[in-house]
Amino acid sequence: MIAVYPGSFDPLTKGHLDIVKRAVTLFDRLVIGVLDNAGKNTLFSLEERIALLREAVGGVQHVEVKGFDGLLVDFMKSNSSRIAIRGMRAVSDFDYEFQMALTNKGLYSEMETVFLVSRGEFTFISSSLVKEIFRLGGNVGELVPDCVVRALSGKFRNR
Ligand code: PNS
Repeated sequence: MIAVYPGSFDPLTKGHLDIVKRAVTLFDRLVIGVLDNAGKNTLFSLEERIALLREAVGGVQHVEVKGFDGLLVDFMKSNSSRIAIRGMRAVSDFDYEFQMALTNKGLYSEMETVFLVSRGEFTFISSSLVKEIFRLGGNVGELVPDCVVRALSGKFRNR
């Protein structure tokens, strides 16, 4: 069975990577779907986010990284998948995730959203926090893979 792990990944964190590694043991193949957030102001371009993910999951077998725009359900269908993986960090994630899962189910009735509960040490990590900490001079080495630390340095140096 093929599962899709969709997200913005702006940028990916060790929390995302942990979900990838766990999800791939549950399904035959995992397609990481990176949203081309055309309307959203992302720090990293779609190409940069895809490249960082590819670098970070390079060693993990049966994982593929692809960009998508439009509806997640259409991306899932075009990848022959009906399973979406989402990480659940805390109760604060629940409302948004619940709404998204129900909306997607309404659009594609065979679709199932599978939630993986974040590991304790990753429950507080978010891409937004990582960007803020880095921007204010803090160390994010514990929160993101090395390639992301380098990419963040490059971004903020060029600003
Ligand atoms: O990492 P994020 O930003 O929480 O991921 C959100 C994502 C990409 C899963 C969600 O925004 C999405 O699926 N967008 C595609 C558009 C869509 O299908 N919207 C309707 C379902 S909510």
